[in-house]
Amino acid sequence: MAHRNLKNARIVLTGGSSGIGRALAIELCQRGAWVFATARRSERLVELRQVCESFPGRLEILAGDLTSQQHRSAIVAQVVQIWGGLDVLINNAGAGAIGRFDDASSDRLRKVMEIDFFAPVELTRLCLTPLKSGNQPAILNIGSVLSHRAVPNKSEYCAAKFAMRGWAESLRVELAGKKIEVLMLSPSTTSSEFFDSLVETDLDGKRPSLGSMSPEQVAKRAVSALVRSKREMILSLGGKALVWAGRLFPRITDRFLGRFA
Ligand SMILES: NC(=O)c1ccc[n+]([C@@H]2O[C@H](COP(=O)([O-])OP(=O)(O)OC[C@H]3O[C@@H](n4cnc5c(N)ncnc54)[C@H](OP(=O)(O)O)[C@@H]3O)[C@@H](O)[C@H]2O)c1
Repeated sequence: MAHRNLKNARIVLTGGSSGIGRALAIELCQRGAWVFATARRSERLVELRQVCESFPGRLEILAGDLTSQQHRSAIVAQVVQIWGGLDVLINNAGAGAIGRFDDASSDRLRKVMEIDFFAPVELTRLCLTPLKSGNQPAILNIGSVLSHRAVPNKSEYCAAKFAMRGWAESLRVELAGKKIEVLMLSPSTTSSEFFDSLVETDLDGKRPSLGSMSPEQVAKRAVSALVRSKREMILSLGGKALVWAGRLFPRITDRFLGRFA
């Protein structure tokens, strides 16, 4: 496929209020895309709209909780009403949880699966009809290195991100005939608000920052994945090393990771 043209591309972007999503909205608007950004914090979205005003693209916003079916339906209805269709869906919104599985309640698993798996999957279901008549249509899922190799103390998050990857892999083949591309970008630790917004944590305020990428770096790679139709992209050398170590030396990797359990 020819490189995707982002100028005037109509894009739904979830999680636009902070971190990777906010940086993506800015990067896309700078390239002339039309971005429909959503998240719960409306004041953040309003601030983002002001930032994007001077860029060649357009930014529309809608605040709401993505785990609500009503909000997901409103996103799709509004984007179709305003722009007459949809070309790209970026499933970026997400949240993590940190702590041992044997200390956790089932509520933690439900919450993580709702926002990291069911919400993007059900939003995608609603977007399929407009995407089928979109220009160079694509679905870009923001996964994680932990979609490829699980680590201890993040069992719910790893399960949700693995589920997303499995679903996306299946969807990619199903939608090939409809010319809708399904892409997946897997960042490693990124210096966003992710570790401030955990569903639950036993971190005591300590936040992993060693070797973090910035949201802007991740956003540039995400846009590049979109333009070049990269079906799977694992960001960072450390991320690739973990994934390959897990595939080639699973027992040694388990033992190494066991030190952090
Ligand atoms: N940061 C990392 O180290 C890292 C590493 C690998 C992958 N990722 C993935 O990257 C994606 C973006 O994360 P980030 O690092 O940019 O974290 P972030 O700064 O915490 O951003 C998360 C975004 O998701 C939105 N969100 C969360 N729950 C929501 C809900 N129930 N309804 C609607 N929106 C919701 C948040 O908006 P509101 O709070 O305003 O609703 C926010 O805009 C996530 O999918 C995450 O799993 C992050």
